[in-house]
Amino acid sequence: MSFDSDIHSLASRLKAARRLTVLTGAGISAASGIPTFRGPDGLSRNFRAEQLATPEAFARDPKTVWEWYDWRRQIIARAKPNRAHEVLAVWSRRLPDVTVVTQNVDGLHERAGTKGVVRFHGSIWELSCSNACGREAWSDDRVPLPELPPRCPGCSGLARPGVVWFGEAINLDILARSRRALDCDVCLVVGTSSVVYPAAALAAEAVERGAFVAEINPEPGASGVDLAIAGKAEEVLDRVESLLSPSIPP
Ligand code: OAD
Repeated sequence: MSFDSDIHSLASRLKAARRLTVLTGAGISAASGIPTFRGPDGLSRNFRAEQLATPEAFARDPKTVWEWYDWRRQIIARAKPNRAHEVLAVWSRRLPDVTVVTQNVDGLHERAGTKGVVRFHGSIWELSCSNACGREAWSDDRVPLPELPPRCPGCSGLARPGVVWFGEAINLDILARSRRALDCDVCLVVGTSSVVYPAAALAAEAVERGAFVAEINPEPGASGVDLAIAGKAEEVLDRVESLLSPSIPP
């Protein structure tokens, strides 16, 4: 199928859909200037996520781990939601039942005004106590952070980013909400390399449960999908939206 017919095919599926679930990854924020983790323009600063986003790395060298997060927080603070976030925000308010399950910790879906966001990997704007002293997680949007590593206001121990690290379990409530959303008519898989589990298993589960699953990625990689559109999220979603909501001629 050609690119144009792929776009039309997705638009007609969406017109008929009652329940839409969107699984997003770093690629949806690429056009906002936030580097992805993998791929040609992937995150560098001399580190791979697997090296720093782990409990072991934090135990060994919390300052370096925090410097990496503080650097990413500065990039994200300057970024704005792009057209892909905007279109999903519009759909989340226009379509009857939309869930956006995001692996991104940047908060751009929320800033675009999206309803029904499930943060699979947490938020870079939240901190929690690394000693689990009992203090509830708290928000901190200061950039740069005044002290690295930051401290827990409860016990003065080390604070950690409120994100899920490699080797850590996904919060059970978040996992349950994400899996419930896979009982949908259409599932879009947008801007993820589909290599990090358990997030990468969600698309396959949607396929198994009978959803129409479409991937949007310049380098599609999810297996078993019904439609793979090789394009950028901000362009593809904009084109689809222009078919769903054609401008009224004067
Ligand atoms: P990756 O960096 O692994 O993959 C980004 C994907 O986005 C790649 O497949 C790119 O081809 C695609 N891409 C790039 N530009 C795009 C665009 N404009 N539109 C659409 N797609 C585009 O990011 P994730 O799959 O999100 O986890 O990574 C998964 C997890 O690995 C992250 O949540 C993070 C990371 O380590 C943790 O930190 C636990």
